[in-house]
Amino acid sequence: MLNINNVKCENLTNPIGIDSGTPRISWISESLEKEISQKSYEIEVSTDKEFTQFVWQSGPVTSSRSHSIKYQGSKLLPVTRYWFRIRITDNFKNSSEWSRAAYFETSLLSHGKWRAPFISSPEDTDEKLSKGWIFQKEINIRKGLESARLYATALGVYEAFVQGERIGNQQMTPGWTNYSKRLLYQCYDITKNLREGENILAGHIGAGWYKGDLAGWVGKRCVYGKRNALSMQILLRFEDGSQEWIKTDKTWKAGTTGVISSEIYHGEEYDARRENPRSWTEVEILPAPESVQITAQDGPLTLPQETLKPREIILDSQGRSIIDFGQNMTGFVRFKVKGKAGDRVKLKHAEILSPPGEFYTENLRSARQEILYTLKGEGTEVYQPRFTFQGFRYVLVEEYPGKVKADDFEAIVLHSDMEKSGDFDCSHPLLNQLHHNILWGMKGNFLDIPTDCPQRDERLGWTGDAQVFISTACNLMDASGFFTKWLRDMRSEQNEKGGIPHVIPDVLQDVASQDDILKGAHSATGWADAMTICPWEIYVQYGDPQILEENYDAMKGWISYMRGEARDEVLWDTGFHFGDWVALDAKEGSYFGATPNDFTATVFYANSVQIMIKTAKVLGFQKDLKEFTNLYERIVKAFQNEFFTPTGRLAVNTQTAHVLALYFNLTPEPYIKRTVDTLVRLLENEEDHLLTGFLGTPYLCAALSRNGRLDKAYKLLLQEDYPSWLYQVKQGATTIWEHWDGLKPDGSLWSPDMNSFNHYAYGSVGYWMYTVVAGLSLDENDPGYKTILFQPQPGGGLTHARASQMTPFGKASISWKIQDREFSCTLQIPVNARGRMKLPGQEKYSELGSGEYSFQVDLP
Ligand code: BGC
Repeated sequence: MLNINNVKCENLTNPIGIDSGTPRISWISESLEKEISQKSYEIEVSTDKEFTQFVWQSGPVTSSRSHSIKYQGSKLLPVTRYWFRIRITDNFKNSSEWSRAAYFETSLLSHGKWRAPFISSPEDTDEKLSKGWIFQKEINIRKGLESARLYATALGVYEAFVQGERIGNQQMTPGWTNYSKRLLYQCYDITKNLREGENILAGHIGAGWYKGDLAGWVGKRCVYGKRNALSMQILLRFEDGSQEWIKTDKTWKAGTTGVISSEIYHGEEYDARRENPRSWTEVEILPAPESVQITAQDGPLTLPQETLKPREIILDSQGRSIIDFGQNMTGFVRFKVKGKAGDRVKLKHAEILSPPGEFYTENLRSARQEILYTLKGEGTEVYQPRFTFQGFRYVLVEEYPGKVKADDFEAIVLHSDMEKSGDFDCSHPLLNQLHHNILWGMKGNFLDIPTDCPQRDERLGWTGDAQVFISTACNLMDASGFFTKWLRDMRSEQNEKGGIPHVIPDVLQDVASQDDILKGAHSATGWADAMTICPWEIYVQYGDPQILEENYDAMKGWISYMRGEARDEVLWDTGFHFGDWVALDAKEGSYFGATPNDFTATVFYANSVQIMIKTAKVLGFQKDLKEFTNLYERIVKAFQNEFFTPTGRLAVNTQTAHVLALYFNLTPEPYIKRTVDTLVRLLENEEDHLLTGFLGTPYLCAALSRNGRLDKAYKLLLQEDYPSWLYQVKQGATTIWEHWDGLKPDGSLWSPDMNSFNHYAYGSVGYWMYTVVAGLSLDENDPGYKTILFQPQPGGGLTHARASQMTPFGKASISWKIQDREFSCTLQIPVNARGRMKLPGQEKYSELGSGEYSFQVDLP
């Protein structure tokens, strides 16, 4: 039996609000047989569920492609539902049935179609305030309503309501983009919420990224505008074929809400007594930002993902209750409370207790992370904030009427809605906890954009952090849509010279050049390279060249920027760089690691050009391919001349320099052994401990394991004392820290001016755990796990390890164990993918088709 499941459009199940004229269709095939691959597929798309009104019939297409197939039928109409189905044949001449019918629904399709005005309250004039506003309109709906769609967006953040009931459970919509260029709208099916006769439509808005405080350490506010506004359009379709549009306009009314103040960094002040506006005023129409493109949501929405119960309630030295949720996380607290009108609940949020038992908020800098709720005094009141999120594990209950009981509190975990794709487990409990911490680092920092941290007055889309973590991210969750959206944000911020700002969306442009540390507004090596690294990584992970097509010009732009900056076009020795950020070989009190900028900058320049060579190959751009190949060769030559002595010594004597020269294949062949030996010696100087920062750490273990020193890679990974990954774990970390010594062995802390306990960058070692420890990885030359590499490399005394990965073809997995020097392992290869396996001690790869396998070998 050949079955088709997981039928998706644009990687979503039955999406509504698709903005592409050529949406991509994907499926997963299943069979009980082994070695099954797809021979051909057939796709049908129709406007009816019975498949009689076709807009596309592909006919049988001989192809093994089973994901991201672009729609090629007649032109899609806006706001229309299309049904689609697939059937396939396999290499044994089996045919599947048609898949179950799935649908996608188009949005307004393309820019220029957004016609709803932006409405604001005439009282929203104080730049310093971050109040909540509500806009409302009563409408009368005649008989025979067939369907209703709401399209909504805001200059700020919004929640939509029909008859006072919340529509959808998305948070922080419309998300964060560069609002002067790109604004997203969301689509909701509100058919069931409407009724014949009177209906009340409403939208609440808050300050959000648009107006609220950003980059607290430089005090930015009103980055995109001084006033918040709502814009909605509703399409009503009736059984008689007629339709009606309702839009926000002058006829809507504005009022205040219980939200006295709501800010991303600072939390929310809510007065339940003022929940219902006492009076309504006229609204004011604001012009939409000039030249903004308003398009449909093009990445995953931010949704509540899970609920955590308090682990315990502890009392601090002043006798105040601190709720410990047992997990450092991002989201907010929902609580129940009973009391008199005017009673208050005041909560503060923190990541750690320091000294033990005492609430510690200094590392939040100016972010207050406070909730202040005033009761209306009507029975049990349930509250959760609307337009804010907090990074925390501990909650200090400063005010609360009555006894603080664990049952009345829960923490809602928020992040972008990405499917979990990977799993890892092994015989080393601390390593499993490290994997857990890496996963929670991702959960905590993938909130619409990849943030550096979720708690202090920063939470910005630092490009470097995202770039070093992206492959691990793809191991953990399906991050394709998330990065597709963020790369669009990035392109919208690229400057004419091809430069890329440090944070995307860019809120530092005007301050960075005056900042003591930054001294430059864009294009730092290893950070701005996100422009080439991220599209390439998404391509190899998910196998869809569209990500390269859409980013190609921007990628090229980034190369030409570097080319313009580099000495003789090849050695990049100018400009401001973060370099090997927060490495332990930095001078006392400095953030900048010891590896010099011209070294790291030239390495990452070479790597980006190498990515362009591969990209030009994939896309078939021959001229560029030649040009980039030539440039690459010149860079490598210049790099080697500059940094290797004639006798083969790498002249930069840091761990990171050796790691980068090895990992990125920039070491002349005859000098590899010496470079590896020196790296090992540099590690041994530290008793086998790392000193690497943001740019060296991600590649450290791989640089060793690829060059015959798997033993040392395991040694570092399993080191339990400072500085190491497991040191943090042993200190009780539940996420990844920004600094190796965020919490020092003597119990003191790194300076509060930059000490996050939820910073995913060093979690980038997760990639090595999946690909080397468990041994499941992809083959760049056959991307998207079409060919799955199984190459477990046991070490460090581990006796078993297991990893699974949801690939575009379905689930792949590996599980190995060692008993009495016998190595046994089981593999799973999904239908239509193939495997290449090399077990310990084997010289050659074995080729495998889909199916499940078990093997045993004697360990060498
Ligand atoms: C952020 C980092 C970021 C860095 C740039 C910090 O404030 O938290 O993670 O990449 O600045 O140097």
